[in-house]
Amino acid sequence: AMIDKGNYRHFMLKEIHEQPVVVAQTLQSYLRPVEEQVALPQMDFDLSTVERVVIVACGTASYVGMVGKYWIESLARLPVEVDFASEFRYREPVLDGRILGVVISQSGETADTLAALRHMKANGVTTAGIINVPTSSMAREVDLLMPTHAGPEIGVASTKAFTCQLAVMAALAANLARARGKLTPEAERYIVHQLTEAPAAMNAALACDEAIAAVAKTISTARDVLYLGRGPEYPMALEGALKLKEISYIHAEGYASGEMKHGPIALIDENVPLIVLAPAGPLFDKTVSNMQEAQARGAQVVLISDAEGIAQAGDNCIATIEMPKVAPLIAPLVYAVPIQLLAYHVAVAKGTDVDQPRNLAKSVTVE
Ligand code: G6P
Repeated sequence: AMIDKGNYRHFMLKEIHEQPVVVAQTLQSYLRPVEEQVALPQMDFDLSTVERVVIVACGTASYVGMVGKYWIESLARLPVEVDFASEFRYREPVLDGRILGVVISQSGETADTLAALRHMKANGVTTAGIINVPTSSMAREVDLLMPTHAGPEIGVASTKAFTCQLAVMAALAANLARARGKLTPEAERYIVHQLTEAPAAMNAALACDEAIAAVAKTISTARDVLYLGRGPEYPMALEGALKLKEISYIHAEGYASGEMKHGPIALIDENVPLIVLAPAGPLFDKTVSNMQEAQARGAQVVLISDAEGIAQAGDNCIATIEMPKVAPLIAPLVYAVPIQLLAYHVAVAKGTDVDQPRNLAKSVTVE
């Protein structure tokens, strides 16, 4: 079928707005709401025997892997390694049959990720794939296919595939935890409830569109932009910076908030906007204190947080972007929305080709 932009100006904007629906669609395959359990597709190996998880991907998908490291380590108490496929292939990784190797890919055809998958299989690793195109090479070659149901993604900069990958990653982490006896029925019920609420929370997050469009005008004149986050919001800061670079051509970097004082703080002045991702949770206060260190040096901060967080820390910011208050587990899915919208509106303000950014391809099938 022909895919069109509907009433949207760009595919990217349409795909950003589709997220609540496609994430819900994806979660349907991984949650049993009546039993209040998480589930995975049928597999012919035993998850409880996994001793280590190795996650390999490229680009935006690699940040899902980094979020997955936080989730799998904390929920399932399994060590997790994450790498870019282009590095993994050539670094002589130490592999054996007790590893679960996970590839993440929208297209299922990215050359480096496919080669990494084949390398893992050749070394006796059991493999699983979080993949959007069910007929792709990777989908056919993994031992366990964990599909995302994002539908065709046309915008070169990945949006809805990314959040669907996060949803599946959360389900994988919970399933690993249960297989290892690390998940009480109450904890599992809580996870199912949180994930079930994610689409509505993402929908609420979309309401920040106008506020983002307003601040995007300021950001669009910057030469450099920094993104800060802690814990699972650290990879989200990396993703925010990547999105901005990809479509607006503004130089951006993501940093773990606590690392700022070890280097990037030297860059801070009133010309380098700082985007701070600060959802409620155990890391909120630490994130805010890092933000204030930057503000004391003149940083112009855009704070993305919930109403309480904004009331507590929003005073000296150039803009505050309000998110619904959510549990830490689903914060990456919800905070993906404002960082995508920010990149989008900055690109529109700059007049770049949002859906077909220069030098980039939707799927990179050469090394
Ligand atoms: C390309 C795209 C990125 C994407 C990456 C990985 O570089 O421009 O948006 O994140 O490939 O693609 P994959 O299909 O493997 O997720």
